[in-house]
Amino acid sequence: MVGLQWKRRARVMLTLLSASVCLVMLIFCIWWPSVTDLIEVEKCPACYGVSLCPAITRGLLTVDTFGSVAGFVNILGSKNVLFGMLGNQKVVLKKLGHAKELVNLDSIICEEANLGSSCHVNEAIWQQGDLIHSIRQHVANQGGGLLLCPTVVNMDHLLSNVFYKNKDIGVKVLHANIWTSIMINPEPLLLQVLPEQDGWPVAKYLGACGRVVVEEYAGEMLTSYHNAPWLQRANFAYQLLIAAHNFTDSHPLFGFYLTDISADNIALDSHGRLRFVDLENVIIVDRNAPVEDRPLSWNVPHVSETYDCDGCFAFSAQAICSHSRSDHNFYAVCQLLMTGTTVCRMVLRCLEISNL
Ligand SMILES: Nc1ncnc2c1ncn2[C@@H]1O[C@H](COP(=O)(O)OP(=O)(O)OP(=O)(O)O)[C@@H](O)[C@H]1O
Ligand SMILES: *[C@@H]1O[C@H](CO)[C@@H](O)[C@H](O)[C@H]1NC(C)=O
Repeated sequence: MVGLQWKRRARVMLTLLSASVCLVMLIFCIWWPSVTDLIEVEKCPACYGVSLCPAITRGLLTVDTFGSVAGFVNILGSKNVLFGMLGNQKVVLKKLGHAKELVNLDSIICEEANLGSSCHVNEAIWQQGDLIHSIRQHVANQGGGLLLCPTVVNMDHLLSNVFYKNKDIGVKVLHANIWTSIMINPEPLLLQVLPEQDGWPVAKYLGACGRVVVEEYAGEMLTSYHNAPWLQRANFAYQLLIAAHNFTDSHPLFGFYLTDISADNIALDSHGRLRFVDLENVIIVDRNAPVEDRPLSWNVPHVSETYDCDGCFAFSAQAICSHSRSDHNFYAVCQLLMTGTTVCRMVLRCLEISNL
């Protein structure tokens, strides 16, 4: 008797359980945007580009729906980073901004155009006036995440890779794409300025379609390797210091200072190489700035201020911009490594010895 009741209760429980699983899956499916919803290609040229649209039309891009809980959380938290596949390559899809930022941009475009409720951003963007002028202004004031200083006169040199790689696109459309990126997040531009293919420790940029850019999946973040063996962590330290050196000195014209260096923005790829995946906030110093634009302190290397506490990190864009070279990147990676270890100091010593 007791056994029978138990069985019935178990059956009811099971039915309830499967019903709720179904419901969750249904909500999941309704909530989950299709690739077409994500890309908003109708907003082009107020978008990041169209290089990957043909691949998407052919169905080569798929988004992980159930594979990653993190992906779902990202969408809900409106971080707008999704994982997927492009052909047989693992990729990351980025809208590059929170939903609110993207809506804001659309209202900026529409306000300028004064078209009221009949505004379509794809047409309204042409009312922005001289887009290159607007880009220059934003890059000079850090209106977006990109700051070029102490002057923007050499901006065309900075973006020469972008112009070259997109030379088949009409100039006006390309300017609109660059403008959109600058307004939301300059990461895709930086990934083209410092291409992974040339050895820069960044995620490989694969292209864009509408309001989505696609990057190669660069691996798990360093946060997953806190307990890695000492030798592996020493190797991370070494790679991070080389990266700091590269961003500071390896570009022939500009120094790149990353202002958002943290363990959850650095991936370890399948070849054991570290890659920076968040290039939203970067200060770019024009080492060849015309003499009349150079601040007095220009030739004195900038030394980051030290704070005597764990994990503290502060920087001043103005200070970095007033010197042709700064130790900012070294300081930032050392902050990352110093928390609880002396590995960084040791590797720094080695680098000094090897004259880096
Ligand atoms: N190319 C990539 N390969 C692997 N993982 C990535 C890649 N790009 C981003 N991610 C993952 O997605 C997360 C968020 O990406 P990203 O930093 O670009 O977005 P965000 O909105 O700027 O987030 P936050 O400002 O909080 O770092 C990263 O912390 C990382 O875990
Ligand atoms: C980074 O620096 C190392 C050491 O100087 C150098 O060998 C390498 O070519 C640099 N990478 C880039 C992308 O410049």
